[in-house]
Amino acid sequence: MRKKIVVGNWKMNKTISEAVELSSAIIDQLGEVSASCEVGIAPAFPALSGVHGVISGTGIHLAAQNCHYEDDGAFTGEVSVRMLDEAGCSYVIVGHSERRQYFGDTNPVVNLKVKKALSAGLNVILCVGETLDEREKGITTEVVTCQVKEGLEGVADIGDIVIAYEPVWAIGTGKTASSLQAQEVHASIRATVAGLYNEPAAAGVRIQYGGSVKPSNAEELFAMPDIDGGLIGGASLNAEDFVAIVKAAEKS
Ligand code: 13P
Repeated sequence: MRKKIVVGNWKMNKTISEAVELSSAIIDQLGEVSASCEVGIAPAFPALSGVHGVISGTGIHLAAQNCHYEDDGAFTGEVSVRMLDEAGCSYVIVGHSERRQYFGDTNPVVNLKVKKALSAGLNVILCVGETLDEREKGITTEVVTCQVKEGLEGVADIGDIVIAYEPVWAIGTGKTASSLQAQEVHASIRATVAGLYNEPAAAGVRIQYGGSVKPSNAEELFAMPDIDGGLIGGASLNAEDFVAIVKAAEKS
């Protein structure tokens, strides 16, 4: 039985004080972290340390939204995996579609970041997902399979990786993939992992769904056999909604 995982990706929202306030509200409303669902939050870089101070000891994971693939050096504006580790992160999101779309994160770059993050002992949330154009052309499986294969190139052990399927057309649009549409892609990702690794690895890897997850649709999505939780954008900026989504995952 795979343990569910729900992570809030706050994107470029919340100042340090706002992030501290939101994480405190999440703790208040969530109570104990349940054994049936891992919970994480991914504030912007400046708020990582402050949020870490608030959530440390609660069992909620701190996640970063991105990292660089070099150890250190002259890379103005970038953040290394050691910096994230020291800030208290246990997860880093890699290959989010917004990084792919606006900041040139190609599959080979994503792969370098995945490997660097793992080398620092961080868990990785590897994001994949097709655009609307790709879905309409009927090449969703091809695109996602390629993102998974190239993202995991040279990664010997998938144990510290969570895959997040986030159809680009469903992110921030209010349009959610139907639970069946999402399930179909999740099953194909799991089959890809079986081919790259083996059946036990595929059975164990957690695959989150992301894209307009809300309290009203979370339960149905999380009830699908290959959907192991969610990567939540907009709804994670509201403590009540985020906690309701975590509760839906705990129940499923
Ligand atoms: P929304 O939940 O706002 O659609 O964002 C999803 C996402 O991109 C999470 O990483």
